[in-house]
Formats: sequence, C-alpha cells, structure tokens
Amino acid sequence: MFKLSTCLLLFICFFAIVTSQQTLPDVSTSFLGAGDPGVSHYPSYLGLKMHIRCYSNVTSANQKGPIALFDAGLPFFSTAWVSIIPSVLQKMPSWNISKACFIDRYGYGWSDSAPYPITTQDYVLRLRGSLQVAGLTGKYILVGWSWGSIFTQVFSLTYPKEVSGIMTIDGTDSKWGFISANQQSIITYTNTYMNYMSMNNMGTLQSYANDGNVALGFGYFPNGTVALGFTPNSVSSSQQIWLSNKFLKTAVQEFNIMVISSAVLNFTYAVKGPNPLKDLPYVNIYETIFDQDWIDRQLFMASLSTNSVAIPFGTDHFFPFTNQGAIISGLTALTNKIKTNPARIWGRGIF
Ligand SMILES: *[C@@H]1O[C@H](CO)[C@@H](O)[C@H](O)[C@H]1NC(C)=O
Ligand SMILES: *[C@@H]1O[C@H](CO)[C@@H](O)[C@H](O)[C@H]1NC(C)=O
Ligand SMILES: *[C@@H]1O[C@H](CO)[C@@H](O)[C@H](O)[C@H]1NC(C)=O
Ligand SMILES: *[C@@H]1O[C@H](CO)[C@@H](O)[C@H](O)[C@H]1NC(C)=O
Repeated sequence: MFKLSTCLLLFICFFAIVTSQQTLPDVSTSFLGAGDPGVSHYPSYLGLKMHIRCYSNVTSANQKGPIALFDAGLPFFSTAWVSIIPSVLQKMPSWNISKACFIDRYGYGWSDSAPYPITTQDYVLRLRGSLQVAGLTGKYILVGWSWGSIFTQVFSLTYPKEVSGIMTIDGTDSKWGFISANQQSIITYTNTYMNYMSMNNMGTLQSYANDGNVALGFGYFPNGTVALGFTPNSVSSSQQIWLSNKFLKTAVQEFNIMVISSAVLNFTYAVKGPNPLKDLPYVNIYETIFDQDWIDRQLFMASLSTNSVAIPFGTDHFFPFTNQGAIISGLTALTNKIKTNPARIWGRGIF
C-alpha cells in the first residue's frame, strides 16, 4: 500500500516534469495566425528531430524552382522571419522559388535539443540528412541572417551541386572567430544567459523581460514587435519559447561553437585558394552603421565569389525587424542573378 502510493506520487511528479519541459506553443498559429498555409516538417535524423516550416505558392512559373532555406541569427529561430513571409508568398512565383522553408536549429523553436553543442559543420550534415528524410530535396537557395550566414557558406562548400545561390544578411564571416573582442563577448553573453536561467528558475525572468530589460540582440521579442510586421501570435509564442530553459541552454550551447565553426570555415576556404565560392550567385546585404572593420569584412566575404553583389543599407543589424524591404529586394536581386547569370563553374565538380 505504502509502496503503491509512493510509486503513484513519483509517477505524477515525473509526468509533471516531463510535460512542463515539453510545453510549446501551437506551431500552426505561431506564425501568420489563423489560416496560415505553412506546413511543419519534423524529420528525425541521427536521433534528433528538426523542425522545418515551409510555405509554397505553386504556379507553372515556379513548380520546378529551388527551395529557399532561411536560417536566423543567434539566438533567433524560425519565427524571426514571420515579418517577411507574406511578401515571400507573393513573390515566390516570380522568383522561381518552389518552397520557402524556415529552420529551427537544434534546441530552438520546435526542434529537439542537442545533448551537446553541435558545430555548424555537424549541423549542416544533419540538416542535409533531415531535408532528405522530409522529402525536401532538389536545389537550394540559402539565406542566412547574422550567424545563419556561416551555415550558408558551410552548406555550399559541403554540397556545392545542390546550391543555386546564397544570400547573407549582415552575416557572420570566416574571420569573426579570430577576433579577440568577439571571443571575449562570448564569455559575457554566456554569463548573461546563465543569469537568465537562474532568474527563470526563481520565476523572475518573465517580468524582467516584459519590463523591457532584455535588448533585442538577446532574442526576446518585446510586445512592440507587433508594430514591426509580426503577428501577435508570433510575438507571444516567441516570448513563451524564450522563457524556457530549453531555449536559454541552447543559446549557451551555440555561443560555444561560434569560434570553432567560424575557424573551421576559415581553414576550409584557405585550402581552396582564391575565390573559393567560384561563380556561385551571391547577394550580401549588410549595414554600414557598426564600424569600418565590419564593412571591410562584409566586402571581403562578398569577394569570395566572383558572381556576387554587396548592397549596403544605413539601417541596423536586425534586418528581419527593421528592414524587411532590404531582404525582399535582396531576394529579387539574387533570383535575377540565378536566372540571368547562373553558376557555370560552381557545382560542376571541376575544382
Ligand atoms: C526554375 O528553376 C528550375 C531549377 O533550377 C529550372 O529548371 C527552371 O527552368 C526555372 N524556371 C524558370 C521559369 O526560370
Ligand atoms: C501567390 O502569388 C500570386 C502572384 O504573386 C499572388 O497573387 C497570390 O496572392 C499568392 N498567393 C498567396 C497565398 O500568397
Ligand atoms: C582566415 O583568417 C585569417 C586570420 O584572421 C585571415 O587573414 C584570412 O583572410 C581569413 N580567410 C578567410 C577566407 O576568412
Ligand atoms: C505584453 O503582453 C502581455 C500579454 O498580452 C501582457 O501580459 C504584458 O503585460 C505586456 N507587457 C507590456 C510591457 O506591455
């Protein structure tokens, strides 16, 4: 009798812990709200489930077109792109894009957590495997904002035959990890998130974030994000996800693979010699208000392909929040490039 009730209590506690960890907002209403035409895929690959949400607008003009994959900056995820999805849906027939898919890297959004930090190089292998499992195969256009830009470059170098073009949006570059100020800021950011986790465990983080104490760079969507073109549901779902230890731990894991992922990309470029991206169609949109070194590195990054254009904007780093028009015009430029000046050398396996 005693044993049975203990067991029952333990079971209830265990069940409570498991469910409290798994409470995620309803994905079907967390993007565009009611009537959202998106389809969420959850391919499982090498033991981890990745969430990839896709939108399509099929016409005879784009049914055979590449799939565009969007990867957000750190610590953002699929919902960071909500503000551009309506325009992407309108334009994708003329862009010849068959699907636009928004990725949750492991531990973010609706994806499984990784048991250990996963480098971008490992992530790219797992993403490719996940895309195959989900049946999202064909050619890709890769779009990365900020940290997501490392993924566009690593994926292109790993699977050159599958990539038609890339766009980086104020992207992280392959010199980033060698800069000591960046290495220092990782330590600061890690401490901040450790602090957020303690606050979350004490129940004080929600009011702290809600009172406007967390800068956008730390990933929390303030209520005012609605005025920037985000649906109310996408804002409240992003807030709910941010306020979980799953998310906070993932941010810490990611900070700790930044230097190594950027450095391995640098070495990969070094062994390939000049113009390692050959004539891969590449549009780099970047901001000019940070500092000259950032601008120089953006131009250097664009120079890695002979078929690139770098387009400066006088707005800040948070393009999905503060300059959606730049992203849309960048995609128009990239898809025009793919139509009029596609790669002739890139992806042919002759280098
Ligand atoms: C769209 O892209 C596909 C795949 O690259 C290509 O085969 C097709 O000709 C393109 N269609 C148009 C209308 O440009
Ligand atoms: C699909 O694209 C067409 C052409 O731009 C547009 O008129 C239509 O509204 C789009 N459909 C959706 C669901 O956005
Ligand atoms: C790799 O890093 C070194 C040292 O910072 C730098 O001189 C070189 O230009 C970098 N190359 C690339 C492709 O990032
Ligand atoms: C933000 O919205 C939530 C939910 O509607 C509300 O509880 C909270 O008080 C709002 N915060 C601010 C700072 O307005």
